[in-house]
Amino acid sequence: GLAHPNVGLFTHIRGACVVSGNLQTLSPKVRKFIEDNVAICQPDEIHICDGSEKENKQLLCLLQKKGTIMPLTKYENCWLARTNPADTARVESKTLICTEHERDAVPIPKPGIKGTLGHWISPAGMDKAMQERFGNCMKGSTMYVIPFSMGPIQSPLAKIGIQITDSAYVVCSMRIMTRMGQAVLEKLGNNDFVKCLHAVGRPKNGKVEYPHWPCDPERTIILHKPLTQEIVSYGSGYGGNSLLGKKCFALRIGSTIARSEGWLAEHMLILGITNPQGKKRYIAGAFPSQCGKTNLAMLTPTIPGYKAECVGDDIAWMRFDKNGVLRAINPENGFFGVAPGTNHTSNPIAMKTIHKNTIFTNVASTSDGGVYWEGLEHEIDTSKLEVTDWKGNKWVRGESKTTAAHPNSRFCTPANQCPMIDPEWESPEGVPISAILFGGRRPHGIPLIYEARDWKHAVAMGAAIRSQATSAAEFKGTAVMHDPFAMRPFFGYNCGHYIKHWLSMDKPGRKLPKVFHVNWFGRDKNNKFLWPGFGENSRLIDYIMRRIDGEDIAQESPIGLLPKEGSINLEGLATKPDMKALFEIDVPFWLQEVDSIHQYFEEQIGDDLPKEMYDQLVEIKKKLRKL
Ligand code: PEP
Ligand code: MN
Ligand code: NA
Repeated sequence: GLAHPNVGLFTHIRGACVVSGNLQTLSPKVRKFIEDNVAICQPDEIHICDGSEKENKQLLCLLQKKGTIMPLTKYENCWLARTNPADTARVESKTLICTEHERDAVPIPKPGIKGTLGHWISPAGMDKAMQERFGNCMKGSTMYVIPFSMGPIQSPLAKIGIQITDSAYVVCSMRIMTRMGQAVLEKLGNNDFVKCLHAVGRPKNGKVEYPHWPCDPERTIILHKPLTQEIVSYGSGYGGNSLLGKKCFALRIGSTIARSEGWLAEHMLILGITNPQGKKRYIAGAFPSQCGKTNLAMLTPTIPGYKAECVGDDIAWMRFDKNGVLRAINPENGFFGVAPGTNHTSNPIAMKTIHKNTIFTNVASTSDGGVYWEGLEHEIDTSKLEVTDWKGNKWVRGESKTTAAHPNSRFCTPANQCPMIDPEWESPEGVPISAILFGGRRPHGIPLIYEARDWKHAVAMGAAIRSQATSAAEFKGTAVMHDPFAMRPFFGYNCGHYIKHWLSMDKPGRKLPKVFHVNWFGRDKNNKFLWPGFGENSRLIDYIMRRIDGEDIAQESPIGLLPKEGSINLEGLATKPDMKALFEIDVPFWLQEVDSIHQYFEEQIGDDLPKEMYDQLVEIKKKLRKL
């Protein structure tokens, strides 16, 4: 018989051939989103992703042919991508929030002070930035359309996005990091979705330096428009810039949705803990990038009788339910973890997770088809193997002057492969959160653990987070940076308003979680860590569990509640840590610390910061002076 007369309409859009998927089954909104961007980007082909195993295999095969990835034959379905060396991390200076009024996006810093809490762009500026970059940018390429869900598809807390991209690496990575494909389209129906547009771009002069990893570092830009729930990313193929469900959607756009709907989108891990009595609790924790969220999320407790299970390692969406219980989901489906430093001591669970179905980026490889990075010195005998560094050059341990792996190299691995994944990790209503941890990497002055007195104090604790710089973004060195709520790179709106939103969580009938500040990175005079960390952090989790149960093991101090002497279980530790040093309140240090935070608040957030935060600092200072 004859073909349906309309079929031609559905096999091409403006000359671009639909090579996979069926336009006819898409909702009018999805189709319009695709058509509008085809008109701009001018791809040769369109591929609507179904998320199937078959599709994934085809794309991996294509990526291998293009030299973007190579198989790691030592493992099962594992791959290594080496990026353009200029495209290895998030670019905070080029990550912008677009609103009509600047102050809705970022607080206005004091005159003469450079703002650190995000970057604003006007709607006209965003239009211009897009026009300068996206026209014809997919000529000769395939446009992939990725329907994805942040959160389990059937969860009432989940949100749907559609990402357009010209990178098959992004498709394969999004398939690990989100629930992706046909099932999402079915759930979506004709509803709205977060519109995500991504192109790797190419340099203005047309010179693609690394053909296997096209990008345009000079003109990289990552734009977010909360009003229309749009994300636009150009010029980078690197995770945080290109896997738009993660930082761009789940945190930046997510935080703006959360504010308007009365919940929280946070840069937090979620960990389930069962104590020896069989009582299970969940704990969330906000630490800046590379402060060990993944390691804590995959904790192997050293104290007998404890069991830890993992819900998520990076992002938590949390809301109070009708019973006043704070419930959290992990909106992600995988872990995009930092590889260096990961080993059988720091994170044995991650080591068991990443040896199948994993995409590694910018780690080193070994001649037996394996991976290598700094931290695996005791586990991989590089004397018997040839090592190729993250740039593709021969690397010899002890001789090469550079690191084998890029310090921000990553593994991208499915969460359901994690041997300690929590049975409730996909629970549609989320898991109940009993405690929240804030922390950072602080070599001096900050005690191992202390507890907030009340909710206002808790919010001030989050707002005052500081940590040493990481390689996850463009900053260099180890200077201590302010990082409120570990969200500094991820706020979708004015940090002052965000803090106000946190304060508003304290409503009658709600069971607020207990809040603690932790710092397992304190160092002694010889620069040695004061606390063993890793699995031994279960000793602090044990303390927290007992506090949740109301045990009388905490005492007042100017900065908050400290553990009473002897209340942290140290049984079985080979060397007793210097508890005095770990809990010392150095008054001059703390006066200086409070002043720095006060100055930061004033300079960076000014009038947008709720007055309660300044009051908290004044209160702490008063108490310090009485000590
Ligand atoms: C990223 O940069 O892609 C990322 C996941 O961010 P981070 O690990 O710094 O939180
Ligand atoms: Mn993170
Ligand atoms: Na850095």
